Amino acid sequence: ANSFDEECDYLFKAILIGDSAVGKSNLLSRFAKDEFSLDSKPTIGVEFAYRNIRVGGKLIKAQIWDTAGQERFRAITSSYYRGALGALLVYDVTRRSTFESLRRWLKELREFGSPEMVVVLVGNKSDLEGSRVVKLEDGRSLAQLEQVSFMETSAKDNLNVEDAFIEMITRIY
Ligand code: GTP
Ligand code: MG
Repeated sequence: ANSFDEECDYLFKAILIGDSAVGKSNLLSRFAKDEFSLDSKPTIGVEFAYRNIRVGGKLIKAQIWDTAGQERFRAITSSYYRGALGALLVYDVTRRSTFESLRRWLKELREFGSPEMVVVLVGNKSDLEGSRVVKLEDGRSLAQLEQVSFMETSAKDNLNVEDAFIEMITRIY
């Protein structure tokens, strides 16, 4: 461990899940590096990023697993979930199918995730107001029904991205 790890109060693992092209990788690159790419490639298997963050006076090192949305690029699902304390479940507010898939993702979460895992539902691409097909209220109602937190974000315009991750982290600790 480096000296930061030793000074760190907590180290935890979280995962990003949701259909392909909803913006998981860009949410993570925005959070971890303040970067956004308009022509990012689909994730193959899994990628990682770290970010150190101070929440409520505690120094927290977040290890975030960015998973592939495309079925053919998904590796062994159970290893994604193992030890994960939090998950951002992401859909795209401009594509209804990504919202309808949430039922399947929630089922997978319950099957492989620990019962205490903190889940934040994230409706991404809120900058594309003209192409919106999933209403803010739809996301909010589903989150209420499933008893998870909810936020709309834009990785592109950097709206609520930090807040979504911090919501997850503060609910964990
Ligand atoms: P997989 O790795 O295949 O699961 O996809 P992903 O969920 O990681 O999506 P990715 O981050 O690669 O983004 C897919 C596309 O959506 C890219 O062209 C991004 O530039 C775009 N995108 C991501 N977030 C936003 C956003 O907030 N607004 C807009 N307008 N485009 C976004
Ligand atoms: Mg990706």
